[in-house]
Amino acid sequence: MKEEKPIAQNTNELFHPSPEIIAQANVKDPEAARLEAAKDIQAYWAKRAEELDWYKKWDTVLDDTNKPFYKWFTGGKTNIVLNALDRHVKTWRRNKLALIWESEKGEVRTFSYHALNREVCKFANVLKSMGVVKGDLVTIYMPRIPETVIAMLATAKIGAVHSVVYGGFSVEALHGRIEDSGSKVVITADGGNMNGKKIELKKIVDEALQRSGAPEHVVVIKHLGIDVMMEQGRDFWYHELMTLPISKNGLKCETIEMDAEDPLFILYTSGTTGKPKAILHTHGGYSVGVHATLKDVFDLKEEDRWWCTADPGWITGHSYIVYGPLIAGATSVMYEGAPTYPYPDRWWSIIEKYGVTIFYSTPTAIRGLMRFGESWANRHDLSSLRLLGSVGEPINPEAWRWFYKIIGKEKCPIMDTWWQTETGMFMMAPMPAQPLKPGSATKPFPGIDADVVNAEGKSVAPGEEGFLILKNPWPAMMRTIFKDPERYVKTYWSTYPGYYFAGDSARKDKDGYFWVIGRVDDVIKVSGYRLGTAEIESAFITHHSVAEAAVIGLPHEIKGMAIHAYLILKAGNEANDTLVDDLRKHISHELGPIAKPEKIEFVTSLPKTRSGKIMRRVLKARAQGMSEGDISTLEE
Ligand code: WTA
Repeated sequence: MKEEKPIAQNTNELFHPSPEIIAQANVKDPEAARLEAAKDIQAYWAKRAEELDWYKKWDTVLDDTNKPFYKWFTGGKTNIVLNALDRHVKTWRRNKLALIWESEKGEVRTFSYHALNREVCKFANVLKSMGVVKGDLVTIYMPRIPETVIAMLATAKIGAVHSVVYGGFSVEALHGRIEDSGSKVVITADGGNMNGKKIELKKIVDEALQRSGAPEHVVVIKHLGIDVMMEQGRDFWYHELMTLPISKNGLKCETIEMDAEDPLFILYTSGTTGKPKAILHTHGGYSVGVHATLKDVFDLKEEDRWWCTADPGWITGHSYIVYGPLIAGATSVMYEGAPTYPYPDRWWSIIEKYGVTIFYSTPTAIRGLMRFGESWANRHDLSSLRLLGSVGEPINPEAWRWFYKIIGKEKCPIMDTWWQTETGMFMMAPMPAQPLKPGSATKPFPGIDADVVNAEGKSVAPGEEGFLILKNPWPAMMRTIFKDPERYVKTYWSTYPGYYFAGDSARKDKDGYFWVIGRVDDVIKVSGYRLGTAEIESAFITHHSVAEAAVIGLPHEIKGMAIHAYLILKAGNEANDTLVDDLRKHISHELGPIAKPEKIEFVTSLPKTRSGKIMRRVLKARAQGMSEGDISTLEE
């Protein structure tokens, strides 16, 4: 996809860490760690698993008898909550802050490990009283508030499986995900604050539930204090449930012992075709993977103040807001709202106010804030920072330099982490004690074997573009697609049998550094958010005026990629600005504002293959004034 290469790669430019950074790094010699792990991957992961508590240790590190349905730490008994809370409240960490939360309006709430554990226990008892048992599905559709974390942990604690749906999604996206998961309970809030606006989540839940067989119960957190409809017998206020004497032991709740391979959560993500798929992760291997990666890549120390700006509704939030930091016993900062509210220095003010030491964010946010100029950052004391991070899409060198210079004051290395919902944990990332190249996620994490191959599956020469594959299984890997194991095999393990196909194109340079270029399928990364063309096209078709729809992603200065839609109207509809407006509103209402197209064009035909499949690459080529031959064969 030639047109999507945002990176002017200078593969020779190296940024070396300072002696202080190396001296304090958890991993002093990343190259040696990689070599050591490669010698015996199972021994490496067993060692990393020893860093955690287990009810019972595993019998087998890796069971690969039924590939690609790999199993990790089989025979082991655990629960992610055992490591995220239970083990900390037995030590001095019970009085350490787990979470510092700030609302968009500036309200602050903090939770020590003791307090977080208490709220989780109380809410776990609430869920139990609603009949939620091990293996049940619970949908969590929330603003970015502490109760999101509490709900996830409470669900996991009693062995139920959470499905967090990003609070920026809307009616149809939510409906599809609730229905597909078969959730027994939906946990939501009256609404959330975003950029000075009130997002009325309960209203969206009500509309979504009208479209499908409803769950038994809806738990509603009062966050905004706005009026909402409460359906008798179905809907309950969280604050009322939390104060009921549910059991005589309401402040305590036993953590259920799980098999290492028992499901922890599903997370819907978009793929090449059809409906979004639910990626399934488990308790044991996932705990080991997120903990090891966070500790090594972000060099996490007891006294750090960690801030990951993602939303818990995406994998980054699951792994590195909720589970990774809590397992590590860290103090996390969480912020509800927009980085530009009320002014474009909100993030920098939060770093200063709480003394954030490690700041993990996205290229799209950096590009967005760069626009406002450096003075917004310069009016704050950012000297507490020691490490920066980036995720979600390739970071262009201009944004990298701004981040490095203006935010990190040229003393904070940037950890560019490449990974996916499916991988659960970082697959490629630097470690602080290692030289960096702006725009490269550098090298695979210890125990991970990545390569770039051509269509035949042969490694390409250094500097050549190809498909990114992973050659070894890893503990936090997805186990399957919920309810669709065939699609799991087909999507990820059939292109190059035996190897994991990531769906990204990449290059590896002569020093072994990887440069991820972008998706080779129909996934569009809009502001780092992962969206699928199929889901957006289906949403267009539900509008009364649309006969056919094709959606592509085209490069965008701030968002990375933006959605362009080509629509064939049903006879009798007039293509005008009012209709464009109406269609944009329709998409926003059905899927969410992030799916709003940048541009809508009305056409009379769409390029298709003989079998009727829309040739999006032809649309892309035309849109960028290229001939079809200019489009790399990668996409075919
Ligand atoms: C892209 C997000 C370049 C990539 C954790 C991947 C990146 C997709 C990077 C997964 C990075 C993520 N450099 N590209 N550092 N990180 N990507 O599932 O295309 O939302 O396949 O997981 O994001 O997106 P997902």
